[in-house]
Amino acid sequence: MSDKNTKNEKMEAIVSLAKRRGFIYQGSEVYGGLSGTWDYGPLGVSLKRNIMSLWWKMFVEDREDMYGVDAAILMNQKVWKASGHVDTFTDPLITCGNCQSRYRADHIITDKEDYKIELENFFSRSKDIVTGLHLSESPFDYSEEQINSLVGIFGEARVPAHESVKQLEEYLDNHHKLASSYLGIFPRIYLSNKKTMCAKCGQCEWQDAQTFNMMFTTTIGPSSMNVLDKQIFYDIDKGTKKVTEVTVSQENIDNTDNTVYLRPETAQGIFTNYRNVVDSFYPDLPFGLAQQGKAFRNEISPRDFIFRAREFEQMEIEYFIDPANWEAEFNNWVSLVHAWADALGLPAENVHELEVPEADRAHYSKRTIDFEFDFPIGREELLGLAYRGSFDLDNIQREAGKNMAYVVKGTNTKFIPHVIEPSFGVERALMAVLSAAYTEDEVNGEKRVYLKLPEHLAPVKYAVSPLLKNKPELVAKAREVYAILKKKHGNVMWDDNGNIGKRYRRQDEIGTPYCVVVDFDSLEDNSVTIRERDTTEQKRVVISDL
Ligand code: GAP
Repeated sequence: MSDKNTKNEKMEAIVSLAKRRGFIYQGSEVYGGLSGTWDYGPLGVSLKRNIMSLWWKMFVEDREDMYGVDAAILMNQKVWKASGHVDTFTDPLITCGNCQSRYRADHIITDKEDYKIELENFFSRSKDIVTGLHLSESPFDYSEEQINSLVGIFGEARVPAHESVKQLEEYLDNHHKLASSYLGIFPRIYLSNKKTMCAKCGQCEWQDAQTFNMMFTTTIGPSSMNVLDKQIFYDIDKGTKKVTEVTVSQENIDNTDNTVYLRPETAQGIFTNYRNVVDSFYPDLPFGLAQQGKAFRNEISPRDFIFRAREFEQMEIEYFIDPANWEAEFNNWVSLVHAWADALGLPAENVHELEVPEADRAHYSKRTIDFEFDFPIGREELLGLAYRGSFDLDNIQREAGKNMAYVVKGTNTKFIPHVIEPSFGVERALMAVLSAAYTEDEVNGEKRVYLKLPEHLAPVKYAVSPLLKNKPELVAKAREVYAILKKKHGNVMWDDNGNIGKRYRRQDEIGTPYCVVVDFDSLEDNSVTIRERDTTEQKRVVISDL
């Protein structure tokens, strides 16, 4: 079997276990589901909270230089205009002309290098035609019609006057820049030449790729909607009641643009509170603000279980620094990110640093590292670390007219701090944890599936059972043990379903590190059997030593 199939099988096994055992369900499943949304069951919510609490402890509580915030999800629309999200938080959308299925252009164009080469060829040839120069050599045979579709755009300007040629070149260069991010006509031409078929209808009839803003919008208050109201008329003589729906006049409603966005990142809720925290606490630089919470992105093609969802959670830190120290601070965060991966129990050899090249970085970023993980679906982004300079605080200072400068204590030195931003996705961390923990082995000649979860993340730490559930004296003693452990650890499960073998398998599948069994000897010697998940070894322990 190919490696790819094995990996897909592993992913399917994890998804199926997650559903069967109460970790994660499809969102709105009972109504046929809602794509890109997921609901967490009792064990999933527990695992997710353990991950988030671990992060909060590691990056906020255990440090002196970090401050937590919890900003509102709905923010003034000016936030997203100033941050650039309204104009540029877009994905390239390409539509099948036959069945209207929609895809992210950069997802269905899988060979990025080849795409870049062909794009260069196409534009240099088109430019040659437009400017009347010789055709450059290209291994890719573009049809005349394809070239004309671009050239045609500039038809009117095709006069040999110097100015026009210059304008044309500029126009083409801009078009080129757009297409290099998978927009415009070239993705269509490329997919057609490569005979890439629509996954849904099998046809090759692509339309031009367009930008698609990924922010969800809603409106605040009753403006810009057709407000329906009900008026009830009573006819006193006849004793009847008539309900009429009337549209409330728009004239009486505030008609300002009340669009608001569901936040696509938690980061902006941190930047907008920078001044507040500085004024309340006056921390020394460097210091960080941390936030955990929901983020929403209208992903064109949510996929791969919880990996790319439309509603997800982020854990973000904006670490404010003196720009003179940015390199040392950045490198320190690289180490901290690896320490985080280690705390999640992810094998170091499966965590990789991808140095994002300048051309692919956001314009304000001097350095970005994507930390990738070997998921069963392949090597993909787990989290990002970016040096954002003073981009966001500058924007706020300019657009809100508020002073964002930091005054170094006891001096007259002031400047707008720069920012290192480690941005963690909760679902990706959770999926990495499940992928690393999912293990198959053989016990007594039988296949066994278990989650080798680190103890501090396991949703259930101990499962307590009486050896036989129809023996009241065993049940009573086991209840005593359960109460002791529950008080101490909280996440303890009572499990008396089926025989002991079945209980062990079930607890293995949800990653419970220890199963405690109370038997007849326990009544005599006050000890219990503890069975360890990974080794399946069993030993006797005195109850007071648990
Ligand atoms: N403030 C920077 C920022 O939001 P990002 O790379 O767009 O950067 C950060 O997102 C992290 O959020 C990603 O590395 C990933 O872990 C998570 N993330 C982003 N989009 C996601 C999605 N659609 N579904 C699940 N997690 C997502």
